[in-house]
Amino acid sequence: MKRLLSRIVPFALAAPLFLAGCGGSGKEDTATTGTAEKAQDQPAKGDIPGKSVTPDQVIDTNKVVDVVKGEVKGGESTKGPSRTDHLFAYPDAKLIKDEPLEIEPPRGLPPLAANVYVPASNPVTKGKVELGKQLYFEPRVSKNGTVSCATCHNPEKGWTDGLMTSTGIFGQKGGRNAPTVLNTVYGRSMFWDGRAPSLEGQSQGPPQNSIEMGEQSYEEIVDRLRAIPGYKEQFKNVFGTDVTLDGVAKAIATFERVTALSGGSAFDKYQNSEAPDHNKILSESQKRGLILFGLQLNGDDDYKTDAVRGKASCTKCHAGFNFTDEQFHNLGVGWDAKQGAFKDPGRWAVTAVGAKNTMELGSFKTPTCRDIAKTAPYMHDGSEPTLEAVIEYYDRGGNANATLDKDIKPLKLTKQEKADLVEFMKALTGTPIAVALPTLPPGPDGKTVDPKSALTPPSKSTAMDMHGLIVR
Ligand code: HEC
Ligand code: HEC
Repeated sequence: MKRLLSRIVPFALAAPLFLAGCGGSGKEDTATTGTAEKAQDQPAKGDIPGKSVTPDQVIDTNKVVDVVKGEVKGGESTKGPSRTDHLFAYPDAKLIKDEPLEIEPPRGLPPLAANVYVPASNPVTKGKVELGKQLYFEPRVSKNGTVSCATCHNPEKGWTDGLMTSTGIFGQKGGRNAPTVLNTVYGRSMFWDGRAPSLEGQSQGPPQNSIEMGEQSYEEIVDRLRAIPGYKEQFKNVFGTDVTLDGVAKAIATFERVTALSGGSAFDKYQNSEAPDHNKILSESQKRGLILFGLQLNGDDDYKTDAVRGKASCTKCHAGFNFTDEQFHNLGVGWDAKQGAFKDPGRWAVTAVGAKNTMELGSFKTPTCRDIAKTAPYMHDGSEPTLEAVIEYYDRGGNANATLDKDIKPLKLTKQEKADLVEFMKALTGTPIAVALPTLPPGPDGKTVDPKSALTPPSKSTAMDMHGLIVR
């Protein structure tokens, strides 16, 4: 759940965080480093429900109620204390009618092994994937019904929005580029600064920062979904409960886990010695790019070139099957030379007070290079419009600053070498994933919503209205 909630937070969170310059208060730190789950050690109290135990997580419902009180703000006095069953409910096993689903990821990606990429508390099941898909495309998750996950992570656009940053939504500076959801199931942390853990199994604690959800409490979201009979029914079948936020998060995560997978690219086919003519799958330019990037040609490939392996040293960070070391690096992106400061402090801002290291200033998570040709513009602030521009940026050694990563330095690439690197990255486009838009269940008035209506970001004025209502 934290996974979902952490996503609810970022815009609202990012705004005060950046406006405050850098740093972030203790509260934000708690919410963003996952330490909040320590609350589980607290004893249960008095007349409010105590602890709810899920297979791998203890939820301190006392804490939940507290958070909601703050969140409901003025509404609290009339509404009374929150119902914790909005967050998590005990399943009725007899009601669960869902079947397990086995998924084989495309070539080049590791299997979705249980307990590695699939938490024990959230097995992949057929109905859950279907439910998660509907919720992913569901505009009614947002307060005014104009935004869904797909607004900013549209499968048709490489699971992103094609925009520089998603600013406008909260009308603040310091917005970030929407990263692709592709292969995030393999990620060790979420967001450009890694402030959220990737696996929802660790993230099912109470929301710690729901105040940041702005004018929409999770009760509102859940009540709205509970009013839709189709969701009530599916939750019963899939989870054996009524609609809960825990279930919403688990279903969406499961949909992403089995669908948003990028593999089976030309590069993967080239590496697969069983593919017919596998050595012919990449062009000569792509092969030179592959070498410059830091990788090796197939042992049985007789292509001869004097390209220098690792000249561009990309694999120092974009390493492994998902082309990321999952670490944070300062490339100087967003460095404001005049001010002598980063526009966005990145990783540094979310490290707990007391553990901050200036080396983390301006550092961001290494993104995957898979499907990279589809996810322009690039970098955490969307500042590089094309792959060519990204290569130029690396070639000049990034933006000099005191804590620039040691592996970022001028590369002295020739024109041809630059073109080769771009060509190689194009070989990382995965097998296309067809995601047919789901039919969303009709609401209490019998009317349904077209998921297509939320595939493009709301206009600026609508977006301003959306402040704080973005569920992620
Ligand atoms: C208004 C645009 C917007 C909406 C709506 C939105 N996201 Fe995001 N998403 C972003 C941005 C921007 C980031 C990066 C934020 C950051 O790094 O601080 C992000 C980050 C993520 C990440 C982390 C990816 C990574 O590589 O670290 C995932 C996963 C994700 N969103 C999934 C979702 C899901 C699921 C929903 C719906 C419940 C959703 N998002 C709704 C814009 C959006
Ligand atoms: C020192 C580690 C490091 C090295 C070396 C490195 N990268 Fe990156 N790369 C990153 C990080 C971190 C980001 C995100 C930076 C940001 O937004 O501030 C990134 C971003 C990118 C992006 C944009 C991705 C997106 O989704 O926006 C591309 C493309 C890319 N790198 C390709 C390359 C290529 C090609 C090379 C070799 C010439 C290379 N990188 C070398 C760490 C590295």
